[in-house]
Amino acid sequence: MTDYVYDLMKKHHSVRQFKDKPLSDDTVRKLVEAGQSASTSSYLQTYSIIGVEDPNIKEQLKEVSGQPYVVDNGYLFVFVLDYYRHNLINETVDFDMQTSFESAEGLLVGAIDVALVSENMALAAEDMGYGIVYLGSLRNDVGRVKEILDLPEYAFPLFGMAVGEPAEGENGAPKPRLPLDHVFHKNVYNSNAKEQREAIQKYDETVSNYYKERTNGKRQETWSEQVAGFLSGKTRLDMLEELNKSGLMKK
Ligand SMILES: Cc1cc2nc3c(=O)[nH]c(=O)nc-3n(C[C@H](O)[C@H](O)[C@H](O)COP(=O)(O)O)c2cc1C
Repeated sequence: MTDYVYDLMKKHHSVRQFKDKPLSDDTVRKLVEAGQSASTSSYLQTYSIIGVEDPNIKEQLKEVSGQPYVVDNGYLFVFVLDYYRHNLINETVDFDMQTSFESAEGLLVGAIDVALVSENMALAAEDMGYGIVYLGSLRNDVGRVKEILDLPEYAFPLFGMAVGEPAEGENGAPKPRLPLDHVFHKNVYNSNAKEQREAIQKYDETVSNYYKERTNGKRQETWSEQVAGFLSGKTRLDMLEELNKSGLMKK
């Protein structure tokens, strides 16, 4: 038993500035293989991974995302929840598979599979010395991403991931997480609101101090302020419609 993987995980921070140094084909293949080794619900393998190498396509995706590191990176992956191949099988059999992959359960199964694949790839990349950042910003215009990537029905882009060697001077650091006792419940859920509020308040101070220290006092928002700002933004409310257009989440 070693703490090697644990130590690697504890060092994670998102990297948003990369050297202009593309990943080799061999590295890309290894990362995808690492992703494919993740557990997969019922062996369904409900995902595809698109490696975006064409600068023109990267540029179009950057316009959707608004984030420069969609273009400026060593490699760009887009993770797709994918029942297209299962639908091809459906066309060759006498029974109905569609009900399952058009359901909310089908969506959850697919999204969980994609998350596991992508995090396996993230860890493998970080172990090789690369930095990564996930890109949920591709869902700013998911219809456009479907067009850009020429996705067929039953294939839905969930997020991207930029990978690359961290730029000189990239000085990100692990961000403090919620206290372990707050997220780890023993046997049953602890919904004691007083205890939860106290834990949140304590964590708010930790996060505010973290930002103060790292920005010489320029940033000092709490975690509650951040989540309130984000969740009150009511972003991407077109998702159900877009899922339905791809044939998903119909029941
Ligand atoms: C699914 C997902 C989507 C994300 N999308 C973005 C994004 O579009 N842009 C970005 O800069 N960071 C994105 N992130 C990174 C988070 O902001 C980051 O993980 C979080 O703030 C914690 O910071 P850390 O990764 O440095 O620990 C995303 C993370 C996840 C898991």
